[in-house]
Amino acid sequence: MIVNTHQAEAWNGYEGVHWATHHDRYNAVNDAFNPFLLDAVRPGDRVLDIGCGTGRTTRLAAARALSAEGVDLSEPMLAAARELAKDLVNVAFTHGDAQVHPFPGSSFDLAVSRFGIMFFGDPVAAFANIGRALTPGGRLTFLSLRGYGDLARVVAALGFPEAPPGTGPLALGEAETVERVLTAAGFTGVVTRPVDAPQNWGADAADAASFLAAWGPVRHNAGDGAAERMLPALRTFETAGGVLLNGEALLVSAVRP
Ligand SMILES: C[S@@+](CC[C@H](N)C(=O)[O-])C[C@H]1O[C@@H](n2cnc3c(N)ncnc32)[C@H](O)[C@@H]1O
Repeated sequence: MIVNTHQAEAWNGYEGVHWATHHDRYNAVNDAFNPFLLDAVRPGDRVLDIGCGTGRTTRLAAARALSAEGVDLSEPMLAAARELAKDLVNVAFTHGDAQVHPFPGSSFDLAVSRFGIMFFGDPVAAFANIGRALTPGGRLTFLSLRGYGDLARVVAALGFPEAPPGTGPLALGEAETVERVLTAAGFTGVVTRPVDAPQNWGADAADAASFLAAWGPVRHNAGDGAAERMLPALRTFETAGGVLLNGEALLVSAVRP
């Protein structure tokens, strides 16, 4: 069953297809955050990766754990995830809405997510459902978006309104909100820490501008000429290693009693 229907439409439509097609580029954007999540994985863990997308963190977690299963509501992203993991025996993927999916009870030791948990219509219900999937003493570790970081300076040239703090993709970006939601969902020992990492949006400013112009939020909100308008700001972030924008996340951990 899917209850987050608006999200399902987006991630099964243009957004999901773009992520599936360009999984390597989205991983270049987000990979520098991986160590924060992977540090939580222990040998012997059965890991659940929530909103796993094309499965990068599912595969990396599986390499350190007993097994890893990704859940996502995007069919195109799961198709890419399955193809990329086809040679791995301890990786599986499930199509479902993590808010309501009937996970077998107490079947995971650790739930992780790299930016796949910010979009729930009812976050308390979603994390309560995820908690039921964890064994008693099971752990939750995730990264949520804390702010737009340097990207805010780039998209400022486009003139469309950013979601204010605490809303949209920033819904779980504030420590107080996360503590309230996870406590109401039955978790204990909630710890939050702001973490930053460089996000590589392209080889040079022109490459990053054309990729960003095709990224769903820009494509849907900016008018013509978005790539050209972002170029001047992107040039200021060019390095020999690519266009590196500082990204801002909240690293969260909690325990299912
Ligand atoms: C920003 S992407 C991150 C994908 C992946 N974790 C990564 O780091 O590449 C957000 C993901 O969350 C998934 N998602 C959003 N709402 C979801 C829900 N209710 N249940 C399962 N997955 C969901 C989307 O389909 C998408 O794959």
